[in-house]
Amino acid sequence: MRNHIVAGNWKMNLNAAESQKLIEDLKSKKLSSDVRVAIATPAVYLATAANQTANTKIGVAAQNMHQADSGAFTGEISASMLKSIGVHTTLLGHSERRAYFHETDELLAEKVNTALKNGMEIIFCFGEELDERKSESHFDVVTTQLRNALFHLDASQWSQIILAYEPVWAIGTGETASPEQAQEMHAHIRAVLAAQYDDALAQSISILYGGSVKPANAQEIFSQPDVDGGLIGGASLKADDFAAIVNAF
Ligand code: PGA
Repeated sequence: MRNHIVAGNWKMNLNAAESQKLIEDLKSKKLSSDVRVAIATPAVYLATAANQTANTKIGVAAQNMHQADSGAFTGEISASMLKSIGVHTTLLGHSERRAYFHETDELLAEKVNTALKNGMEIIFCFGEELDERKSESHFDVVTTQLRNALFHLDASQWSQIILAYEPVWAIGTGETASPEQAQEMHAHIRAVLAAQYDDALAQSISILYGGSVKPANAQEIFSQPDVDGGLIGGASLKADDFAAIVNAF
């Protein structure tokens, strides 16, 4: 079901006290009732965050998980571990995971399968790099990312998938895709989904935009017909800014 969603990606920021304070600050804000809100905290804070946000409209998501169910994978976290602390949503495929941790489309397909097998919801991130945009291959790049990691899924499995288009050149750079660029790509993604599956499925998928979304530009981006919300990095670390973005719908 297509929803308005604003998710914060805290990345590797904040200590435990700061994390708890940010959540308490967010809880004190009025957040629009027709926007689903989630925060992807660092893994060490997830259990506390899940407790802090119980019975609130703020959901908690992991930033990553391992593709295996369990075993000798030092330092890693499994889907069943996340579920056991009340976390049922995970980001997968963030560009920083792809760039710095060598996550390929093929690995991401495995992670997607493991997450779905465990009943997790996925916020699947993808997007082109600057040179790919400059060479005008961005539509092909995005289509390939989706095809390689997600198009083996049955239509029914897509009810657990949220897409997050994040042009790499706009992440943490202060440079945002223009509302027109975001809309153009989101419409492309929906068309690709319609061609691979059908129009009903394409229309049912929430597609978030990520990359330097701020209170000042959120409303314009969210007003685009195929933009269903945002994945927010830097601006999700300030309760006032994050709440303003949620309420920009
Ligand atoms: P940014 O990050 O909002 O700081 O650009 C977005 C993201 O990486 O998800």
